Amino acid sequence: MMSTKLTDQPSWRALKDHFQKTHDLHLRTLFAEDPKRGARFTLEAEGLYLDYSKNRITDETLKLLLNLAESVGLRQRIDAMFSGEKINVTEKRAVLHVALRANKDQSIIVDGQNVVPEVHAVLDKMAGFANRVRSGEWKGHTGKRIRNIINIGIGGSDLGPYMAYDALRYYSDRNLTCRFVSNVDGTDFAEAVHDLDPEETLFIVVSKTFTTIETLTNARSARAWSLNKLKDAGAVAKHFVAVSTNEKEVAKFGIDTANMFGFWDWVGGRYSFDSAVGLSLMIAIGPENFKEMLAGFHAMDEHFRTAPFEQNLPVLLALIGIWYNNFYGAETVAILPYDQYLDRLSSYLQQLDMESNGKHVDLEGNVVNYQTGPIIWGQPGTNGQHAFYQLIHQGTKLIPADFIGFSQTLNPVKPHHDLLMANFFAQTEALAFGKTSEEVAADGVADFQVAHRTFEGNHPTNTILAERLTPALLGKLIALYEHKVFVQGTIWNINSFDQWGVELGKVLANRIIPELESATEPQLKHDSSTNTLINHYRQQRKA
Ligand code: F6P
Repeated sequence: MMSTKLTDQPSWRALKDHFQKTHDLHLRTLFAEDPKRGARFTLEAEGLYLDYSKNRITDETLKLLLNLAESVGLRQRIDAMFSGEKINVTEKRAVLHVALRANKDQSIIVDGQNVVPEVHAVLDKMAGFANRVRSGEWKGHTGKRIRNIINIGIGGSDLGPYMAYDALRYYSDRNLTCRFVSNVDGTDFAEAVHDLDPEETLFIVVSKTFTTIETLTNARSARAWSLNKLKDAGAVAKHFVAVSTNEKEVAKFGIDTANMFGFWDWVGGRYSFDSAVGLSLMIAIGPENFKEMLAGFHAMDEHFRTAPFEQNLPVLLALIGIWYNNFYGAETVAILPYDQYLDRLSSYLQQLDMESNGKHVDLEGNVVNYQTGPIIWGQPGTNGQHAFYQLIHQGTKLIPADFIGFSQTLNPVKPHHDLLMANFFAQTEALAFGKTSEEVAADGVADFQVAHRTFEGNHPTNTILAERLTPALLGKLIALYEHKVFVQGTIWNINSFDQWGVELGKVLANRIIPELESATEPQLKHDSSTNTLINHYRQQRKA
């Protein structure tokens, strides 16, 4: 059945009508008509300054978008999530990443039990372990100090801690080497350990289910690599710890469950790096910085939960995103941090957003007749400027972008930061206002070049400016995007918390594995393309 529930809403129809009337409006006009626009269409909360003035919206657009948020019952959905209701309906689970950063005295009940004390018990256990590793008290099997931490995990068990480790590297203990192994391609593991000593290396095997083939394969290779040198199976206890919800599988793998850090089925993998999944990060930056990060997450949670929608950062970002995604037909969102430490932010947000909102049926299982989650991509400026910005400036596609920058650098090497930030401001200015053919011609440009050197402008951007990249700030930024994704999922009436779309490929791969491993010619029963490819691979592999 096709769901028209959303598009039949008067609030949706009103936006459609409004789009018909306003879609040609140019940012040049909007700014010319309202000299205060750049100061007015801004919002500062929790240390994040959002300038959303360079969007193709008017006061009326905002009003209609806010009506939409009200009409889909956003307020009730927020309350339902925060109070532990089982809003992940296809898996019958609560969605409580907000409990991971709740204050000790809070109470959040799931199945009749307050989960906050458990969260803090795990955090305390993590802190104890992290301190022992950092101080050298936790030693390897041969008595050597641990100098290398290798996180083995994939998807949510990799992207979050990896991104956050990179983001907070400035705060990390530089005597420790932290690496992240995720790909089942043996190259990932081989390159991660090639210069390391097993006697000084601790593996953290992170898997919510502890059944993920990539992670278990890498963990087995890690065990073999360790024991090859350490020669004693007892060494596993000193060199392997696990983070999982599945105690049975952890024990089966051979990791002492005393060295296991738990979490819960109400934490989605892509929402989990502030749980025990962030153990490698905590060891790198220390428990105090980790705690500060959690406080940042919590501050944004509270802002999201309590601020009126028109002053609510995640709500505004989400609604502006809906405007382009569902009315302008924009297919993507570019994430452009002007900070090298946020190098992996767009990879992280890809999973957060695309695994959450890449859905084609609504909560009732009906196929939707509107677009859902956008394609997320990007990389830090200024590098992107010399690669793909050309298409954003002068191509044929509408690409809304989030620019994220900091007023203070953590590495004050003069004159870099002002140069970086000059580019940061220049890009959103150029994207919004462009350069008309008259302006180009007035510069004395030859006629045949004028069209090529004209910038249409009117490319929308959000600017997020903060003082400094601290652990707390990172927590706020990530919670901002988590809640943005939630708001959009709520408006689209989809389940942002399951990920059935990854299952089919896993099942088919499991079928193909024995066909590749078989010593005799396998009976292939795939389509003619897959059969031929597998045969080609088997032939070429022999060479
Ligand atoms: O790709 C699917 C997925 O289930 C992700 O949602 C998850 O983050 C990842 O695999 C890893 O899962 P696990 O932590 O159970 O190993």
